[in-house]
Amino acid sequence: MNPVLYLKQLILICLLLQGCSSGKSEDKESQEATEVNISKSVFGALPDGRSADLYTLKNANGMVVKISNYGGTITYWSAPDKEGKYADITLGCDSLQGYLKGVPYFGALIGRYGNRIANGKFTLEGKAYLLAKNNGVNALHGGIKGFDKVLWEATPVDGEEPQLMLKYISADGEEGYPGTLTTEVTYTLLKDNSLKIEYSAATDKATVVNLTNHAYFNLSGDMSREILDHEVSIKADKFLPVNETLIPTGELKSVSGTVFDFNKSTKIGTGINNLKDQQIVYGKGYDHCWVFSDTSKTLKSVAKVYEPASGRLMEVLTTEPAIQFYSGNFLDGTIKGKGGIVYKHRSGLCLETQHYPDSPNQSGFPSTVLKPGERYNTVTVYKFSAN
Ligand code: GLA
Repeated sequence: MNPVLYLKQLILICLLLQGCSSGKSEDKESQEATEVNISKSVFGALPDGRSADLYTLKNANGMVVKISNYGGTITYWSAPDKEGKYADITLGCDSLQGYLKGVPYFGALIGRYGNRIANGKFTLEGKAYLLAKNNGVNALHGGIKGFDKVLWEATPVDGEEPQLMLKYISADGEEGYPGTLTTEVTYTLLKDNSLKIEYSAATDKATVVNLTNHAYFNLSGDMSREILDHEVSIKADKFLPVNETLIPTGELKSVSGTVFDFNKSTKIGTGINNLKDQQIVYGKGYDHCWVFSDTSKTLKSVAKVYEPASGRLMEVLTTEPAIQFYSGNFLDGTIKGKGGIVYKHRSGLCLETQHYPDSPNQSGFPSTVLKPGERYNTVTVYKFSAN
């Protein structure tokens, strides 16, 4: 063959081969780029006509978390058992209408002040503020229409670790609280089966802020069962005793020798009905705030929940100083949840990371005051595994 022709043919073959191979990698890239790990669907209509959406986040392991921009509510959260089988481990409703009927904060974002403020009032910078009272004489979880009942502005961010960014601007005076509060919460589903929740807020007037999430967990995946066989550990030497309306007395009490000692992993059922303990009587079980022994503001492991039958383990990490462990004592079988399952007494537990309840009225507690120019920033992670 003519050497020039031979060379030309060789170059042509090379170019063709190159074209194919680069075509292949482009195909792969575009395939990866089109793989969607967050998707959006309509959840339902609010009474004022606005539409609420439901975002589905999934990771490569098959873990799925569904979150609505109504209340920033986690409606579905799957986690693997020891055989690698994923099941929903959180309480909630099948439809938006279920949430609108009124539920005890299933999966919702709580603000602007999580937990109770005594008598629904506090004084800040010499001015008295009267809050909406929605829990007997007290204000609970942000008031009558707290952050759990508002529509958040949502921005989904796709990727291997999908994110849902939520924003809500609470007007000055809303539910009695001072200052326009701009709150941003970002949920991120990580590759290691963690759900990271980042809270951030800024105000234009001094106010108080204590944000959390109120997910109810039943790690058995069977919501018709009680959570009494779940084993809990909390790294806390102290908890906050309360009065009969669940307001902290101000004392930081040692857990040592009480049914509040969860430093060693303990079945919830062991001490929950110990009516000799006045605190159990007041809480109708566990409904108290534990103060972490590690007072650093870094992200640290603070609690674990293990369900022996499924082998599911949940670890809680947070930058917050305390956690409300609520054992679902007010669930009473009057709510039908997902799949028509009746949520009976103690069929779910909450681990709400937070600052101490009633801090605005308790000078001995770490401050929850946020001033203009400052930024509220906290992080909590719920991490799932099985053994
Ligand atoms: C919180 C409170 C409980 C109860 C639940 C909702 O966790 O501490 O007392 O009000 O919310 O039912």
